[in-house]
Amino acid sequence: MGLRIVSMISTEDSNWIVEERNGYRFPPGLKLNLPLYLSRRFFRVGNPILLFEHLTTTYGRMAHYRVGPSDIVLVNEPDFIREILIMQPQNFIKERTQKRMKILLGEGLITSDGESHKRQRRIAAPAFHRQRIQAYGSLMVERAATMREAWRPGVEVDVSAEMMRLSLEVVARTLFAQEVTPDILSINREVNAIMKLYNFLIALPRAEEYLHLPIPGLMRFRRARKRLDEVVYRMIAEHRASGVDRGDLLSMLLRSRDDEQDHSGMSDELLRDEVLTIFLAGYETVANALAWTWMLLGQNPEAEARLHAELDAVLDGRPPTLDDLSELRYTEMVLAESMRLYPPAWAMGRQATCDVALGPYLLPAGTYFFFSQYIIQRNADHFPDPLRFDPERFTPERKAGRSKFVYFPFGAGNRQCIGEAFAWMEGTLLMATIAQRWRLRLVAGQRLEVQPKITLRPKYGIRMVPELRAGAS
Ligand code: HEM
Repeated sequence: MGLRIVSMISTEDSNWIVEERNGYRFPPGLKLNLPLYLSRRFFRVGNPILLFEHLTTTYGRMAHYRVGPSDIVLVNEPDFIREILIMQPQNFIKERTQKRMKILLGEGLITSDGESHKRQRRIAAPAFHRQRIQAYGSLMVERAATMREAWRPGVEVDVSAEMMRLSLEVVARTLFAQEVTPDILSINREVNAIMKLYNFLIALPRAEEYLHLPIPGLMRFRRARKRLDEVVYRMIAEHRASGVDRGDLLSMLLRSRDDEQDHSGMSDELLRDEVLTIFLAGYETVANALAWTWMLLGQNPEAEARLHAELDAVLDGRPPTLDDLSELRYTEMVLAESMRLYPPAWAMGRQATCDVALGPYLLPAGTYFFFSQYIIQRNADHFPDPLRFDPERFTPERKAGRSKFVYFPFGAGNRQCIGEAFAWMEGTLLMATIAQRWRLRLVAGQRLEVQPKITLRPKYGIRMVPELRAGAS
């Protein structure tokens, strides 16, 4: 791997150093304002994981730095993460970069806060109930089976691109009850175009206010958003007009009512925001989780052999079904361990709305807090020999012996991933279906690097060669 990976970080011995300023008590950290620091350490620009890693190895449990007038705190202490996400979530809102996504996602679940978020969550929750999403199991297996039939022994595939294609098919079917039609492809294309411009947009202070200006980047953004809106609103209108429950998430969202308050449903604008939110949140995350899993299995033949043995014993050659999930324990442990090392959501952030006390620290209102699954899940205090791929870390006994906040790929608290059960089901079924037939060998000499964008992607893809497994016809 080109990226220096956090190895053997230990925060246990770091002291609770307190630096007082203006009546507040800050953790230790960088003395220079960050842009100056970054210009001196130019190589860190563009990869926040390297900065977080540096802060963690230097300052331990908590680290503080400033960017312009903003105070930023990196939190590595699981108890404080619990405090922020579970004990006092009312004192925090989503941080700025996530809020900026409002320009694409409006008031959907990821970007809304407070009462508006609570209401959206109440209305969307039934669409993600376990019973409802179980209906998607067989179509997930069917899609994976089609993909596995298309592969040929010895013919190289980029598993990163393949998993994107597969999870796009799953999202098209589950969200809209459609094949990957030109409409779905155009949603995908416009969302990708917008996400490419997103880096440019978050760099502009108060970009929201300038969106109407005739600046080429902003004009491209507006055009992409207009095309996207046309497709999504048309799909909503078609669903509304037909009036039938097609069994997909959009039908469910159309029918859901806010039973706690006025029994109202979602407006078309909110539906559009939610559809795009689910599309964005539910597709690339799962694809990346699976792509990294294939890489790890290719690097760890023992774990791969155990996985194959479980699939053969439980499935005996037939396609997996929902009923098999409880038996596919090792398969799920492989996925869990893969998301420990390569968490698709690699960091989370919040901003304090009031002064916040955390242990010996007192941080002013407005402080930004970040905590990184990538960093914490590779901490040797929580996971001995952290870089070793070892699915055994996820036996029920070993899970029970750990704090929830040393492993949180789906977040926690009132904003915990609404699609978590969906993602476990999808990840496990797709993996089982493909691994039942194929063993994937890594192409030697390729560059395997992480690229921490909104999700943790493989920067150059992951090239692998399928080999037919013994006994697979
Ligand atoms: C491996 C796959 C996935 C991972 C690792 C993941 C991770 C996360 C995380 C960490 C959050 C919380 C972010 C925060 O609190 O700041 C989140 C929220 C969310 N996720 Fe997922 N997710 C995955 C799959 C999915 C799927 C399949 C869907 C939908 C079908 C989905 C929909 C959402 C939504 C709508 C939210 C916002 C929830 C809220 O704020 O109320 N995710 N996800």
